[in-house]
Amino acid sequence: MQSTARDQSPIPNPQSLLFYKTMNLKITVLAGDGIGPEVTAQAIEVLNAVGAQYGHTISFEHALLGGCAIDATGEALPADTTAKCEAADAVLLGAVGGPKWSDPKAKVRPEQGLLAIRKVLGLFANLRPVKVYDALIDASTLKPDVIRGVDMLIMRELTGGAYFGKPQGRSGEAPNRSAVDTTPYTEAEIARLMRMAFELARGRRKKVTSVDKANVLATSRLWREIAHEVAAEFPDVEIEDVLVDACSMYLIRAPRNYDVIATENLFGDILSDEAAMLAGSMGMLPSASLGGFINRHGFRRGLYEPIHGSAPDIAGKGIANPLATILSAAMMLRWSFGLTAEAAAIEQAVERALSDGLRCKDIASPGTTLLGSTDMGRAVTERLGK
Ligand code: IPM
Ligand code: MG
Repeated sequence: MQSTARDQSPIPNPQSLLFYKTMNLKITVLAGDGIGPEVTAQAIEVLNAVGAQYGHTISFEHALLGGCAIDATGEALPADTTAKCEAADAVLLGAVGGPKWSDPKAKVRPEQGLLAIRKVLGLFANLRPVKVYDALIDASTLKPDVIRGVDMLIMRELTGGAYFGKPQGRSGEAPNRSAVDTTPYTEAEIARLMRMAFELARGRRKKVTSVDKANVLATSRLWREIAHEVAAEFPDVEIEDVLVDACSMYLIRAPRNYDVIATENLFGDILSDEAAMLAGSMGMLPSASLGGFINRHGFRRGLYEPIHGSAPDIAGKGIANPLATILSAAMMLRWSFGLTAEAAAIEQAVERALSDGLRCKDIASPGTTLLGSTDMGRAVTERLGK
């Protein structure tokens, strides 16, 4: 039976899980393509170590998604993968895609698998925290004074807008080729994302920036209207509206002004890559994709993945930075299982590894120690609970 009380709140309530001394967690791993298998392997090591320390049993089941799934089955999201994700308590994802499957004329593309799994699991909210670590202040191309202390959460709507709107497609022959994309949004889709943004802002600095293009787009005008209706339910949280083009400028000029940024699918995709550069590297940024579904164990359904891609240029070399995936595993413990102490243990271990001067290639700077993926994973494990 699902608890209705918990269903109404978009945020996992660790209190209600406290009676579990130890947990049995079933995780489905979609390692995917490129560096996906290398980075997920390290996150699994860290999860096993945390599980052992806190007395939880974590089992991992692997399934195919993206290019590897296309090669094996002809489909980017095979039915077996969907079934394994639906049966799991949470899903850990590496990355999908690569040059092998990127022919624009191809009928199936790896990215379709990623979009489809987000949609079938109902994961409408994508949380992308951007935190600038003091130890990495020099890894960014921006001035230390601008980025020091940046700590924002980008909340990207994930199952609506241009990514899924119909009609979408091409028609006609040269010289009359044309293409169309459609950006639909319903009141319900906007409200549930905004509500979660406000709930999360309450546990932070109590400010939500709603980003839209209301001076041009009808969907954005609806977005703004609903955002303010939801804001009225949260009088203790400040709301501001910012146009997406201006937001992309302010993100570079004064990023500390942001706490929670809530926006539609495509704007969130773009702004989160831009914000990643505040932190120095995409290799540092985790994400959580959450829905409203709570399973019979009381766990919130979620898919956890680094925001970086499959990086085919460095795949198989053992040099990919696993920290974004390891931090995604920490988000899983927090958001799907309410295991806040365990999540914080991982985050602190990552911070310690960084302040001890350990770096992967993407964030390396003179005077630091360069590590490969496996050694970085081990360095985090060794620093757990210290
Ligand atoms: C992301 C990625 C995906 C997206 C791609 C790979 C389809 O860029 O997760 O941000 O656009 O959502
Ligand atoms: Mg993206």
